[in-house]
Amino acid sequence: MTLWGGRFSEPTDADLRRLNDSLPFDKRFADQDIRGSVAYTRAIQLAGIITPLEAEKIVDGLYRVQSEIASGNFEFQPSDEDIHTAVERRLIEIIGELGGKLHTGRSRNDQVATDFRLWAMEAVDEIITLIYGLQTALVNQADEHAATLMTGFTHLQPAQPITAGHWLMSYFWMIGRDVERLVDAKRRASVLPLGAGALSGNPFAIDRHDLAQQLGFDAISLNSLDAVSDRDFVAEILFALALLGVHLSRFAEDVIIYSNPSFGYIRLNDRYSTGSSLMPQKRNADPMELARGKAGRMIGNLTGLMATLKGLPSSYNKDMQEDKEALFDSVDTLKVLLPVVAAVAGTLHFNVEKMRESLDEMMLATDLADYLVKRGMPFRQAHHIAGEAVSLAEQRGVTLSQLSYEDYKGLHPLFESDIHTVFDFDQAVARRKGEGGTAPESVKKQVQRARLMLDRAQK
Ligand code: ARG
Repeated sequence: MTLWGGRFSEPTDADLRRLNDSLPFDKRFADQDIRGSVAYTRAIQLAGIITPLEAEKIVDGLYRVQSEIASGNFEFQPSDEDIHTAVERRLIEIIGELGGKLHTGRSRNDQVATDFRLWAMEAVDEIITLIYGLQTALVNQADEHAATLMTGFTHLQPAQPITAGHWLMSYFWMIGRDVERLVDAKRRASVLPLGAGALSGNPFAIDRHDLAQQLGFDAISLNSLDAVSDRDFVAEILFALALLGVHLSRFAEDVIIYSNPSFGYIRLNDRYSTGSSLMPQKRNADPMELARGKAGRMIGNLTGLMATLKGLPSSYNKDMQEDKEALFDSVDTLKVLLPVVAAVAGTLHFNVEKMRESLDEMMLATDLADYLVKRGMPFRQAHHIAGEAVSLAEQRGVTLSQLSYEDYKGLHPLFESDIHTVFDFDQAVARRKGEGGTAPESVKKQVQRARLMLDRAQK
């Protein structure tokens, strides 16, 4: 029997049941649903709807349902439309008609919104913990490679020498913003809808603040129509997760490129690379390609939900049942992905010699211009003269340091006999020691700060 069958004379069509039932996926709310009901039992008891003894019986019954579900002994029935229906049905089977008092003043509309928010808040915490894992791997590698030089790119063209630690830390800060976004989204998810009823509120004197406190919400919703129809928290979390996915994808892309033998900067640990069934020499960065691929799927989850929400009239509409699987999928995806990306990052082998060999003196052309700037020349003009030096070297088929002092003097009298000190990659990098620069000194500072942040966050 359904819980709402009173006014119908025919059972629901089986095909419609298959379309309508959400149990196959909202089962995952079982725990949140029961916690919500336990809290609500206390609320209606305090409001005088049930006696303390009745409340005790209901709560006992709910805990029995909870343990049946936890142990896998719960038998779902074909009539269980969703997890809310299933729990209530079983409660009534266990404690009898009294169980029917639990839903007084409550609707599945405020119930599902409450369950989902609780679930989402918990999922956010789990994802944040996994991000910390990746951040830890990045910061450890950055610490070790604070002074390892490599080619830095813009437009994927060799640009200036940087340190590998700096490259790694760039992803640390990037995903740090994902943590901030998730924390922020969680704050807005932490608003209790329970007590909104189906759409218009609760006619019994339930204490919603007490409910919020029991369930761990920071605040209560202030408008019942908004409360049952607000899925912003899902959209926000989906966005935060999709952007995290995009960041992982960008890191993955770097790893794929840098591990290509033409670059040869890094090598994935054997445990995290795969071979080809045909080509014996292949060493593929599959986990990173999957990281790149999963981003598309998470963007899809966000886009799908936005499309679902956009035309909805006020209050609850059944379309909203479509909100859950999107978030489940993004969360599940990241729970599998993040530990692997963290392990890949943590076990990356850096081919330090190859990275250094990749450096080309042409990448010091900016430093050549800076040399003139330090001797009083406006940067624009210095840029031009350094460009002439590049062109001269290219014409002669030599590097910048192979041009002689006389060559430089010929380009501009501000060049002095110390000109060749410019062509030192380590010095070029060390000069960028201002806060946020690539110098080993700056990377060490970033690492220090990052470790402090991680320590504090994980306390
Ligand atoms: N399974 C439903 C959902 O996920 C629960 C709310 C049902 N509300 C209703 N008025 N039919 O949205």
